[in-house]
Amino acid sequence: MCGIVGYIGDNDASDILFKGLKQLEYRGYDSVGIAVLSKDNKIDIVKKIGRVNAIKDSLCDLHGNIGIGHTRWATHGKPSDMNAHPHKKNHFAVVHNGIIENFETLKKQLVTSDEEFLSETDSETIAWLLDRNDNGDILNAVKTTVAMLRGSFAIAVISDKYPDAIICARRNNPLVIGINGEESFIASDSPALSRAATEMFIMQDDEIAVVKRTGVVFFDENLNLINKHSVPIEYTEEMEDSDVNGYFMNKEIMQIPETIEATLKGFFETKCLDEFKQLSKTIKKITIVACGTAYHSGVVGKRIIESMTRIPCQAIIASEFRYSEPIFSQDELVIAVSQSGETADTLSAVKLAKDNNIPVLVITNVKYSSITNKADYVFQTRAKSEIAVAATKSYCAQLETFYLLSATIKEARENIDIEQYIKPLKTLPALTSEILSHREDYKKLTKHFMDVKSVFFIGRQLDYAIALEGSLKLKEISYVHSEGYPAGELKHGTIALIENGTLVVAIITQKDIAEKTYSAICEVRSRGATIVMLTSLDEYMNKEEVDFTLAIPKTDDFLMPILSVIPLQCFAYEMSMLKGYNPDKPRNLAKSVTVE
Ligand code: M6R
Repeated sequence: MCGIVGYIGDNDASDILFKGLKQLEYRGYDSVGIAVLSKDNKIDIVKKIGRVNAIKDSLCDLHGNIGIGHTRWATHGKPSDMNAHPHKKNHFAVVHNGIIENFETLKKQLVTSDEEFLSETDSETIAWLLDRNDNGDILNAVKTTVAMLRGSFAIAVISDKYPDAIICARRNNPLVIGINGEESFIASDSPALSRAATEMFIMQDDEIAVVKRTGVVFFDENLNLINKHSVPIEYTEEMEDSDVNGYFMNKEIMQIPETIEATLKGFFETKCLDEFKQLSKTIKKITIVACGTAYHSGVVGKRIIESMTRIPCQAIIASEFRYSEPIFSQDELVIAVSQSGETADTLSAVKLAKDNNIPVLVITNVKYSSITNKADYVFQTRAKSEIAVAATKSYCAQLETFYLLSATIKEARENIDIEQYIKPLKTLPALTSEILSHREDYKKLTKHFMDVKSVFFIGRQLDYAIALEGSLKLKEISYVHSEGYPAGELKHGTIALIENGTLVVAIITQKDIAEKTYSAICEVRSRGATIVMLTSLDEYMNKEEVDFTLAIPKTDDFLMPILSVIPLQCFAYEMSMLKGYNPDKPRNLAKSVTVE
């Protein structure tokens, strides 16, 4: 979603901001813009619909050492040059990530008969409010303005009246500030801070920051000074590798074996592990909250937790949970899953749990994300940066973490030796590598279905959870309609959609319910469906009713989802490639969904 960058120092701001925006591209956006305060104290803006490169040729019009930049993911107002940020009103230019929910009311109070908004955005309201609230002190103008806003925001503001600082504020949207002594950087996330910054401050809700060349000062919403500590920035090489290795998604799928290995090691280095073991002894109910792929990992997690520990567990989509007036119980644990740690709905679900005094454990891939700050227990997946919008390696790491958490709870409650659960995990890097050695086969298979209009992924229990994820992967990057469906539920309505040539991908890895899923295969087959079956079970290889069989290796039942999802991720990737799309940047989607 929207990305923010800012720079103040002695170097050319436009160049640094442009590079920062390139680093934020993976978040998903539709337009781009930069504002620079020129040496003769004028705010110059270039902004355009399209990719970051769309403003490259105009950067020569921007001369100055202070500026802000933005990639916009449209919410209010279609993607267009005018709706792109920064928005300016008289002496103030602002970039905004989030949604101002009361913008219509505010707008009515602001516009006059002879002056209209230039854009259709909610964000322009902020620039107008700053202008209206300016009484000679920019900090007060920002304080008064953010107090009038409802909704979510991260903002960065420059002004030709106050040329020595950038002012930032946030509520429910991420913003970090990097420093290195002579220049300061602002960004939505750390990789965009430019490699010049070595340390960063993570802004928290309702904080305001005054960012100068020589450092940054933080205030609370009442402008009381806050003492904050910086943290070191851990840059990875990941963000730079796409050109050499093709698409990020491709590379990230191939990194699954090393991710599995690193996540296993990292799990036992988790600081709060002992504390969590203590808590495990008293948990009576677990609620998992997450969105999208992370939610699908929760569907698997629920099943493993209940089977292994017999603690009642539910997995709920975070955007539903937050408005469901949940009934919390004593000794409940909420587990939130989020690759980015910035998903707005998941953050709100966490806040809701915390407001009800429920302990929260998070599974996240990003160490210094908003979610880690709110949680009691943080378990970090070790997938490194995941740039492609479609989650792949992070999903496998989430599944592994659920398995490890379940084993840990069992160990704490039943005093078992956890090693018996770790042993099969150690074989997964080799097994996942073996699956990945069949990439060419998956590609060939995909070619058969290039023109398919609709795909049903079916399975039961853990296989159903993987059907959900296989379906999401396919639709989000190849735009083919698909559904993940419980195999036993088809006959209650959905089977009406099956006709000659409909593709059904059936997943059969769980021995105890294999026969049941196979019956569903026969039912759809006799109605004309073409069947692809993904299985690890010898007795289901080369069945007559099945058109194509994808064999995968066997492991512990609870770990089968980590294996069975990989061919489906590859299928989606190949389909996207065959159709000529960019799998890393699917239309309408963002990597980090920071608005509701
Ligand atoms: O960063 P999160 O894990 O919280 O993101 C949640 C979803 O937006 C995300 O999993 C999304 O569904 C994936 N991009 C799908 O591949």
